Amino acid sequence: METIDQNEIKTATPGSSSFMFQNSPSMQELLLKPISKDNPIVNDAKIRRLYLQASSQQWYAPQKMNFDLPVDPDPETCKVWARIAEVFYTLEKMGLNVIANMMPKAAGKLKSDEVVNYLAVQCHDEARHVFVVENYLKKLGAPPVYNYKYHVLGQAASMGFYRVENWMFSTLFSENFASVFLRRAKAGRIDPFGAEMCRYLMIDESRHLHFLHIVLPDVMDRLSLMGKTYVKAAQFFIMKFSELVSRGLASDAAYVGINRRDMLEEIFENVEKAYEGFGVTRQFLRFPKITDSGVSTATVSYPSVN
Ligand SMILES: [Fe+2]
Ligand SMILES: [Fe+2]
Repeated sequence: METIDQNEIKTATPGSSSFMFQNSPSMQELLLKPISKDNPIVNDAKIRRLYLQASSQQWYAPQKMNFDLPVDPDPETCKVWARIAEVFYTLEKMGLNVIANMMPKAAGKLKSDEVVNYLAVQCHDEARHVFVVENYLKKLGAPPVYNYKYHVLGQAASMGFYRVENWMFSTLFSENFASVFLRRAKAGRIDPFGAEMCRYLMIDESRHLHFLHIVLPDVMDRLSLMGKTYVKAAQFFIMKFSELVSRGLASDAAYVGINRRDMLEEIFENVEKAYEGFGVTRQFLRFPKITDSGVSTATVSYPSVN
């Protein structure tokens, strides 16, 4: 299992700033004290620190990654990775569009100015991911195309009532999905460029999960029974949809050494553990059954989102 270099995800800001943070109470007061006026719903001090951490970990893709690294010499393997990467590209692009749309709504709902700053940096992370995966697809000989087949996921995650809460809980699934996929892809039969891509994207995704673990317990506490029921239905839909569409990719995934069933089980388990951390158990969240064949979209039903 890939372990992330802790030095890369430390909150300490490099250079003289870290000196100021550690040794000067007045600098700590100036730089670390949150500014939200309106009784924020979330832990603003932690989010402000995470904003600083995220800012200090920004990276410029052409400098950090060697875009000259090769992809697989076998054209068939390239085609398989291209099909898998197209789905990942679509999800990253969707994530970027949705976060850009949800940023001000989330900050307003959570009454937190710190959330605005933090999410702006996360939005930039997602733009970088789109950029990197786009170039990976080009190297594999495939055009970067947004596949509208998956578009409904973005809609389910950010529309309707409780859209902020719904979006945040949906990203708990999608960020876990991205993290587990990237780790398994990196451990699979991937080319040198792809492995480099997975390595750097994973560091950002683990920070995105960190943000959710800060805010979601508070969001869950404030959610009405009605809100919880709504979020629960949307979550089930998203997981069911992912279970269904990933069936079509099972043989491609197996070809490059990723076991789809194991991957989904790990993702569902991570989501379940996170919910347990928020004080709710499996009785709250229903998980879809992971099935290997017999694709049928007729079993999916979803409450109206308009
Ligand atoms: Fe991403
Ligand atoms: Fe992310």
